[in-house]
Amino acid sequence: MVSGVLGSGGSGERQKLSLQDVAELIRAGGCPRVLVMVGAGISTPSGIPDFRSPGSGWYSNLQQYDIPYPEAIFELPFFFHNPKPFLALAKKLYPGHYRPNVIHYFLRLLHDKGLLLRLYTQNIDGLERASGIPASKLVEAHGSFASATCTVCRRTSPGENFWADVLVDRVPRCSVCTGIVKPDIVFFGEPLPQRFLLHVVDFPMADVLLILGTSLQVEPFASLSEAVRNSVPRVLINRDAVGPLAWCPRSRDVVQLGDLVHSVEKLVELLGWTEEMKDLLQRETGKAGC
Ligand code: APR
Ligand code: ZN
Repeated sequence: MVSGVLGSGGSGERQKLSLQDVAELIRAGGCPRVLVMVGAGISTPSGIPDFRSPGSGWYSNLQQYDIPYPEAIFELPFFFHNPKPFLALAKKLYPGHYRPNVIHYFLRLLHDKGLLLRLYTQNIDGLERASGIPASKLVEAHGSFASATCTVCRRTSPGENFWADVLVDRVPRCSVCTGIVKPDIVFFGEPLPQRFLLHVVDFPMADVLLILGTSLQVEPFASLSEAVRNSVPRVLINRDAVGPLAWCPRSRDVVQLGDLVHSVEKLVELLGWTEEMKDLLQRETGKAGC
């Protein structure tokens, strides 16, 4: 686990803030509104692959499906041509299969302490809700499996109906018009959920922005990282430096590189929350964590 030393143009200029500085700011009550952006990296410790990690990510393991290129699995034209690859991927993500990990519970602890302004997630695995973070604090920017919509007559249905078909490898069909039913996951080119517009209010208000486990490659989500005020510390916790925090860092950016669980456990320790995290994990999972 290494603190990133990033400067403009790789000059090696030391970053002005450290993870410890940000933790002390939060402990001193200087950051009552913590805004969080997350991606698939936070769910890899739960056993769910991310998308782009070479070798282990979903996009490196789609050979068994007859798709032209990885992202096609989340594109409507291909879905209408052949929904089976997406449905097979969905089946692997069935909510019952995975549990939240220490990263999700760190974000839950932020909420329990009244510090979580909002959690913007790109993930569709539902593990943020499963960790106990209320829907009011969540923006599931790429949708979720909680509901589904007929691709022809636009009738909506509860996610349970969708799963009943997918789990037995049946293509879900609308009971009224027999159109294919697609879960309310945002495919490339589709509009994001209305709740995404909360960013217009949330990001200008934030006192600190935490960005965890994302490659910041997909818009419009990635650009949110630029929407906080210049005076606001942005903390990227990720295996590698990505997005604007890599190629045009601000003076109050902190880049914490390395394994997400190690980095989050380090932040929890710097915040003085190690015991509370252990108690929360014990209560929620029956296992002492950290
Ligand atoms: N520790 C540290 N970093 C990790 C770990 C880990 N254990 N696991 C993964 N990462 C990092 C990867 O190195 C990568 O930088 O998390 C990031 C995950 O990036 P992606 O796989 O691109 O996932 P994400 O950013 O969420 O993708 C965004 O792309 O295909 C679309 O809709 C899909 O929501 C998804 C979007
Ligand atoms: Zn229909």
